[in-house]
Amino acid sequence: MLVFPTRTAPWSSNFCTTVSLFKNKVSCQSSVVSSHRLFSTTKICWNIMPAWVIDKYGANDVLRFTKNAAFPIINYPNEVIVKVCAAGLNPLDVSMRGGYGAATLSMKRDPLTIKQAGMEFPLILGRDVSGVIMECGLDVKYFKARDEVCAAIPPWKQGSFAEFVVLSGNEISLKPKSLSHVEAASLPYVANTAWSALVNTGGLNKDNCAKKRILILGGSGGVGTFAIQMVKAWGGHVTVTCSQNAERFVRGLGADHVVDYTAGPVDESLRALEKFDLILDNIGGDTERWALDLLKPWTGAKYVTLVTPFLQNTDLLGIADGMLQSAATMGRKALKHLAKGVHYRWGFFAPSGPALDDIREMVDAGQIRPVVEEIFNFSEVPKAFEKMEKGHARGKTVVQISNPGDEF
Ligand SMILES: NC(=O)c1ccc[n+]([C@@H]2O[C@H](COP(=O)([O-])OP(=O)(O)OC[C@H]3O[C@@H](n4cnc5c(N)ncnc54)[C@H](OP(=O)(O)O)[C@@H]3O)[C@@H](O)[C@H]2O)c1
Repeated sequence: MLVFPTRTAPWSSNFCTTVSLFKNKVSCQSSVVSSHRLFSTTKICWNIMPAWVIDKYGANDVLRFTKNAAFPIINYPNEVIVKVCAAGLNPLDVSMRGGYGAATLSMKRDPLTIKQAGMEFPLILGRDVSGVIMECGLDVKYFKARDEVCAAIPPWKQGSFAEFVVLSGNEISLKPKSLSHVEAASLPYVANTAWSALVNTGGLNKDNCAKKRILILGGSGGVGTFAIQMVKAWGGHVTVTCSQNAERFVRGLGADHVVDYTAGPVDESLRALEKFDLILDNIGGDTERWALDLLKPWTGAKYVTLVTPFLQNTDLLGIADGMLQSAATMGRKALKHLAKGVHYRWGFFAPSGPALDDIREMVDAGQIRPVVEEIFNFSEVPKAFEKMEKGHARGKTVVQISNPGDEF
């Protein structure tokens, strides 16, 4: 049996500050990595890097390329610095560019509100990363420099549209061997979201999923395409709603039954089917009015929605009132539906390296494949944002990042 070092605790008491001189420029192919230490703390030479940043919230024109973004620093001993080879774009990045979630995320970055408003700028977006570890904090045992890793970056941290990013060792996982960096960067954010919604909130796991009937509302996007494959890998029966031109695509991922929401009232078509054990809602809004009636009552069946008013409430009402409002809404809805014998839940993205470890095994076993809709170069980041804002997704958008400074 092989024994691997265990993952370190996310927060540890001793601090360490590191990094400066970049001795050997390392490409994203590990074969060319030299045997020398990748960073030295003896001389400050590399303290800036290329990145796409925003200096204020707004439309696409707030995205600005700079060669002078601050180089990430290891502040905690369980952190690592990763050289980014590919970064994933999610609908959340487009929303964050416009200021969505700013109140809660600012509080998470600066809980005691010591800094002035606007101190999050220049802000780097990008929630998925696949790349190579350059430097590990003193407490990182599970990973080492030159490991190829991928991760979903929590939205309160600096993102991956940059040459380097700093992450906690608990947020990263080794890149699936069978995937390129571009493919690997399409998975972490949607995988951690689907895992958190289906496993942590919905209570599914590989041992209890067989024969369960799962409904995925909005199955053709990033989260949906991952969720379909995960449930199928665990033996569940999957029904999906999507537009007609996505039907073949979602069937190819394993969906057993597909309902076209553009062909007429989708709730009527779904009511004609056998009831469900779990519903994952990627659409929200009107769906809450009818979706819970589709669950098997008094069997522990759950409705989990990813479209919640949580961040919007804190943006509009401030942290305290916004959270109170969210708790009241959530409690009222949960009680109302509990009286009818079904569970109402909100699902949230949760960064987790251990979950990505399990997902890596499923990917390398061929049970889950990445769904990359479109690949952009680093110089095309604004174009990728524009496209995501306008069009429907079929899986994920990925930005390939190699020698990012050279593209300009
Ligand atoms: N709470 C959290 O922490 C969290 C985390 C991640 C994501 N989310 C939310 O979860 C949702 C899904 O995320 P995503 O990354 O998968 O988004 P996405 O990639 O944009 O996918 C959404 C998909 O829904 C389909 N769609 C649109 N209207 C529909 C309808 N009425 N019925 C059925 N399908 C419809 C669209 O394709 P077609 O119509 O062309 O088929 C699209 O592919 C987003 O609202 C996102 O903000 C929340």
